[in-house]
Amino acid sequence: MDTRSLSGLDRMLIGLERALEAVAGAPQAARPSPGEGVAEAEMTDAERRLAASLMRVNHTGEVCAQALYCGQAALARDADNRGHLLRAADEETDHLAWCAQRLEQLDSHTSLFNPLWYLGSYAIGAAAALAGDRLSLGFVVETERQVEAHLGEHLQRLPAQDARSRAVLAQMQADEVRHAEAAQARGGIDLPFPLPKLMHLSSMVMKTVAYRI
Ligand SMILES: [Fe+2]
Ligand SMILES: [Fe+2]
Repeated sequence: MDTRSLSGLDRMLIGLERALEAVAGAPQAARPSPGEGVAEAEMTDAERRLAASLMRVNHTGEVCAQALYCGQAALARDADNRGHLLRAADEETDHLAWCAQRLEQLDSHTSLFNPLWYLGSYAIGAAAALAGDRLSLGFVVETERQVEAHLGEHLQRLPAQDARSRAVLAQMQADEVRHAEAAQARGGIDLPFPLPKLMHLSSMVMKTVAYRI
């Protein structure tokens, strides 16, 4: 969608629709899930519970990614950067839908606190945008790199035979690397200390809660 001609109110309404879709709807992926066509593995109950807990964390992470990008886009100063952020949010919608689908296949559920995570992340994204587009893009670079590292950890922790979940996470990881590179190419700057540390700490809180609830 060309967002150049939209008013502030239009952008807020589109943001609200996206928020509802992310936390309460059934977001539609533009690309088929990488897990499609991969055979379901035999897992014990404990292994399925572990896979579901990890995929719930990843689903919540994608809710946060949507919210961050939308918060950043809403207050981006440059229309090109705004379009870029919204297109990146669209790819995060694929990740969101793939994780939701995988959770369903594992007979599990998404995190109860997703609306709260969305609100908090949207506010953080908007605050980053207020600091200017180059810092906001630097925030994308740092976020995507932290997510990439986190996905690598989950690829280690998933039950070895759960090839479906692994296929989803591996594609997400490749996409996040691309998102970081694109934001850096647009002029994203390195974030000053202690921002990366604070981002890491807040994501740890989210991961700990979403793993359980
Ligand atoms: Fe993502
Ligand atoms: Fe991403």
